[in-house]
Amino acid sequence: MSTTLTPVLTANWDQPNSFTLEGYGPYDAAKKALGMDPDAVIQAVKDSGLRGRGGAGFPTGMKWGFIPQGDGKPHYLVVNADESEPGTCKDIPLMMANPHSLVEGIIITSYAIRANHAFIYVRGEVLHVIRRLHAAVREAYEKGYLGKDVFGSGYDLDLVVHAGAGAYICGEETALLDSLEGRRGQPRLKPPFPAVAGLYASPTVVNNVESIASVPSIVTNGADWFAGMGTEKSKGFGIFSLSGHVTRPGQFEAPLGITLRELLDMAGGIRAGHELKFWTPGGSSTPIFTAEHMDVPLDFEQVGLKGSMLGTRALQIFDETTCVVRTVLRWTEFYAHESCGKCTPCREGTYWLKQVLKRLEAGQGTEEDLSTITDIADNILGRSFCALGDGAASPIHSSVKYFRDEYLKHFEVGGCPFDAKKSTVWGDQ
Ligand SMILES: Cc1cc2nc3c(=O)[nH]c(=O)nc-3n(C[C@H](O)[C@H](O)[C@H](O)COP(=O)(O)O)c2cc1C
Ligand code: SF4
Repeated sequence: MSTTLTPVLTANWDQPNSFTLEGYGPYDAAKKALGMDPDAVIQAVKDSGLRGRGGAGFPTGMKWGFIPQGDGKPHYLVVNADESEPGTCKDIPLMMANPHSLVEGIIITSYAIRANHAFIYVRGEVLHVIRRLHAAVREAYEKGYLGKDVFGSGYDLDLVVHAGAGAYICGEETALLDSLEGRRGQPRLKPPFPAVAGLYASPTVVNNVESIASVPSIVTNGADWFAGMGTEKSKGFGIFSLSGHVTRPGQFEAPLGITLRELLDMAGGIRAGHELKFWTPGGSSTPIFTAEHMDVPLDFEQVGLKGSMLGTRALQIFDETTCVVRTVLRWTEFYAHESCGKCTPCREGTYWLKQVLKRLEAGQGTEEDLSTITDIADNILGRSFCALGDGAASPIHSSVKYFRDEYLKHFEVGGCPFDAKKSTVWGDQ
C-alpha cells in the first residue's frame, strides 16, 4: 500500500483549533517575506515551479511577474474562492480548516505584486466558510497582520471578503471581476488580461485559493523544497479530492504525479463488492477516464497526453452500477443551467445537448442522435467565448469514445439498462 502523502495545507486539519490564529501560528512566513525585496519573493515562487491550482496550471510566479511596476496605478490581488465545479471540493474544506494559510498567502502575494488591497471572492452559498473567513480576517487585523503598517514594516494591506451569488461562471476570472465590480458576471474579452486591466481596469492578479495558500510554505521551506516534490514540469503537492464510490472519500494531499491506483489504496479502494467503471481526473469539465487509466501519473502533462486534463484534481469515482449516459445528462443539465448566455455555441449547444441526451437516456433515441450530440459538442469546443463551453463538450466526447455501446444499449432495450425495473446492472441484459 502506498503512503505517499505530503500533508502541508492539510497538516493540521484534524486539530480542534486549526482554524484559529492560535492553532495556525504566528505568520512567520509573511514576516520573513516582508523583510525581502518583493521581486525576490516573486523569484522564489517562480523557482518553486508552483502552477495555478485553479485548473489551468499557469505558472504562478510568472503571472505575478506580468504586473507592471512603477505604473502609478493601484494593483489588486483577487483570490478566486468560487469553487463550483461538480466534483471539486478542496478550497472549501481548506478555507474551513485552515483559513489562515490563505490569509498569510495573501499578505505575501500582495506585498510581492505591490498591492495594498486584496479580495477573497467566495461562493455565496457557503455561509459557514464565509463566516470562518471573516473570523480569520478579523483575527489577523486585531494582531496587526492586516491594515496599516503590517508587522511594523511600513506596508499597508486591506483585505475584503466578498460573497458572490452562486453562479458557476463567476469562477471564470474575468466574469468574477465583473461580478466583484457589481455587474452581471459574464466573461470579458481577453486581451487585455487582468494583469494589465483587471479589477477597476487596474493591474490585477487572480489566483486560486490553493495556489495562494501554498505560498507561505514555499517562503518558509524554500523553492527547492517545493520543487523537490512532484514531477519534472508539475512541481509540488496538491489536494486530490476523491468522491463517489470510494470506501473512504476525502481530500488527500500528495505530490503531483501520484496515480489513481495509489490514491485508491489510501482511500480503501472502490466500495466493497464493486469495481471501477469511469472517473474524472479533474472535475466534470475534464474528459472522463476508465479503469485502463489507473496508472496514469496525475500531473498536467501525463493526464493531457492521455486525452484529459488535471483540472482541479477532483476525482469523481463511478462503479459499474452507474449509467454513464445518465451521469453525462446530469453534468450537461448543470452546464445548460450555468451557461451565462453570452455566446451562441454554448448557450444554444448546451440546451440542445440536454434535449437529445434526455431522449437517449430514456431509450427513445436513435444512432443518429449519437452523431448529433458529437456534432453539437464539436461546435461548442473551441468556438465558445470561455472555457465553460469547452468543459460542457468534454463529457460528451469522452463518454461516446469509451461507452458508445452503452448509449446504443439504451435504445436497443427501450430504456435505461440500469433502471432497477428492467435490470440491476449493466451487462445483465
Ligand atoms: C466556468 C469556469 C469556472 C471556474 N471556476 C473557478 C473556481 O471556482 N476557482 C478557481 O480558482 N478557478 C476557476 N476557474 C479558473 C479561473 O478562470 C482562473 O484560471 C483561476 O482562478 C486562476 O488561478 P490559478 O492560476 O491560481 O489557478 C474557472 C474557469 C471557468 C472557465
Ligand atoms: S462559453 Fe458559455 S459561459 Fe462562456 S461566455 Fe459563452 S455562453 Fe457564457
